[in-house]
Amino acid sequence: MKKYGIQIKKIPDGYSDKILAIEKESFSDAWTVGMLDEELKSPTARAFAVFAEDGLTAYIFCRAVCGDAEILRIAASKKSRRQGYASALLAYTLEQLKNEGIKKVFLEVDFRNLPAKKLYEKYGFQKISVRRAYYEGKYDAEIYSAAL
Ligand SMILES: CC(C)(COP(=O)(O)OP(=O)(O)OC[C@H]1O[C@@H](n2cnc3c(N)ncnc32)[C@H](O)[C@@H]1OP(=O)(O)O)[C@@H](O)C(=O)NCCC(=O)NCCS
Repeated sequence: MKKYGIQIKKIPDGYSDKILAIEKESFSDAWTVGMLDEELKSPTARAFAVFAEDGLTAYIFCRAVCGDAEILRIAASKKSRRQGYASALLAYTLEQLKNEGIKKVFLEVDFRNLPAKKLYEKYGFQKISVRRAYYEGKYDAEIYSAAL
């Protein structure tokens, strides 16, 4: 898909280093190369990325199993945030999942992560449950879902 000068596509081989750099600036529990490569090899993985002027700028990892999908993470490089990349990526991903027959999408988010919660809500996700003290043994995880 090409939109406003960006391209969104399945993550090709050879981008682990770029993804890891964004992981490190985005998450306190950044994935390792091993975790990333294993996830990319999995038949249940659905992983897409936004390519803009600077190359890979944002990515999403999902898993699809038995008609449901889970979003494991979505991130945009720090310097590219607030430019609509995650929005374009999430919209594209939900369309892809819907096209393959996925009916429901789930995710977990730290209740303090306002940017992510706003992003998810913008695309129809609603909070359905809470896991108390899930992150670092003290911060609640909120579980969101969206019907496609
Ligand atoms: C969450 C994240 C992916 C958003 O990426 P982004 O490309 O900046 O998002 P967009 O520009 O597409 O913004 C989408 C919506 O998210 C919300 N949003 C994004 N950043 C926000 C911020 N700093 N404060 C409040 N709302 C924010 C807004 O509702 C925005 O819509 P709007 O521009 O129409 O107001 C990005 O902040 C990020 O990588 N964070 C670190 C990783 C993370 O927490 N991932 C989610 C958990 S897995």
